[in-house]
Amino acid sequence: MDLLIHGIGKLVTPLGGGPAAGPAQGRLRVLEDAYVLIQGGRIAAVGQGPPPPFPGPGLDAKGRLVTPGLVDPHTHAVFAGTRVQEFLARARGERYTGGGILTTVAAVRAASEDELVALARPRLLRMLQEGITTVEIKSGYGLTPEDELKMLRAIRRLGEELPLTVVPTFLGAHAFPAGLSREEYLKEILEEMIPQVAEAGLARFCDVFCDRGFYTVEEARRVLEVGKEHGLLPKLHADELAGVGAAELAGELSAISADHLLHVSQEGIEALARAGTVAVLLPGTAFVLAEPYPPARRLIEAGVPVALGTDFNPGSCPISSLPLVMSLAVLRLGLSPEEALCAATLNAAAAVGLAGELGTLEPGKLADLVIWDATELGELPYFIGHRLALAVIKAGEIVWRSSGF
Ligand code: NIG
Ligand code: FE
Repeated sequence: MDLLIHGIGKLVTPLGGGPAAGPAQGRLRVLEDAYVLIQGGRIAAVGQGPPPPFPGPGLDAKGRLVTPGLVDPHTHAVFAGTRVQEFLARARGERYTGGGILTTVAAVRAASEDELVALARPRLLRMLQEGITTVEIKSGYGLTPEDELKMLRAIRRLGEELPLTVVPTFLGAHAFPAGLSREEYLKEILEEMIPQVAEAGLARFCDVFCDRGFYTVEEARRVLEVGKEHGLLPKLHADELAGVGAAELAGELSAISADHLLHVSQEGIEALARAGTVAVLLPGTAFVLAEPYPPARRLIEAGVPVALGTDFNPGSCPISSLPLVMSLAVLRLGLSPEEALCAATLNAAAAVGLAGELGTLEPGKLADLVIWDATELGELPYFIGHRLALAVIKAGEIVWRSSGF
């Protein structure tokens, strides 16, 4: 798809093909009176002043702000049922333990692949309308070989059907199902699920919920090592409910990302920095659960690249708006708007292995971008809960446009 986007009031983008860490995370390129020329779905040129000749009218950004499309590197967007009762119990003061995951497992096992696709489709379309052009989705509510594969096939179909890049992650090690011992279920993951998932090419990453009451560091290491042998790159749900040394494990295994990190230790932070692992922070979850926020500034100061995700799931975080999460990051994690944008674009892309392909507005990258109803970057976190996307462009195609724009 060819397109010229002109009349851009301000274009703001991180730069590079890998994650930005430390002070570099807040250093963005800002161009006023800018254009983006797209050829064959990729960015051909980004510049300032008069745009190059183009056959046709192109798309007039009418003086608005343009950024790369947002990347959500951590979701559980494929699920069946809701957990409204659990949500209300927490609103009355009950603490989240993760036990509700098995409620969703029962609903997902009862749903067909078609039903899972039909339930997730409108959720992903809403995310697209908020400016998200790439989304990672995890399995983990099946917990049998058959049901985990069903979830991953649903995830694959959503990526084929919708104008979004969908990155699939295998999370068989999300909880322990009833009816099997821990060792029996682990054996099923290691000997059946991982080989089958890898063989069918249904996932790029392998993730484990390494936390109090869930997988121990030793169990997580076994799962991630076997995943790696089968070509699934390690990711971790790390130190969300308690500091158990999961970030240290992520560093040891050079995981592509360590996510949550509410209770990460200083040693864990240093291990992530040494390994170049991306810290995916999910402040929507801390907000919903009324738990302490992760130490974003300490991570950035230690040189760990920080990304932001929604963690959209039916239990701990029913939030699917990455712009809302950016507001929380600025208000509660102490990120600047520049750091938050980098966290939700380039560093999020790095957390799903796509920083060479998308996440910045530079020649050669996929032409994923958003025209916002804003003139400066600070308005994105400032207008909390507003839906500011005016147009969303995926691989050079206008895939959503607000009425009247
Ligand atoms: O990322 N932490 C584990 N998994 C999800 C929650 C899943 C659920 O409650 O259904 C999370 O918070
Ligand atoms: Fe999660």
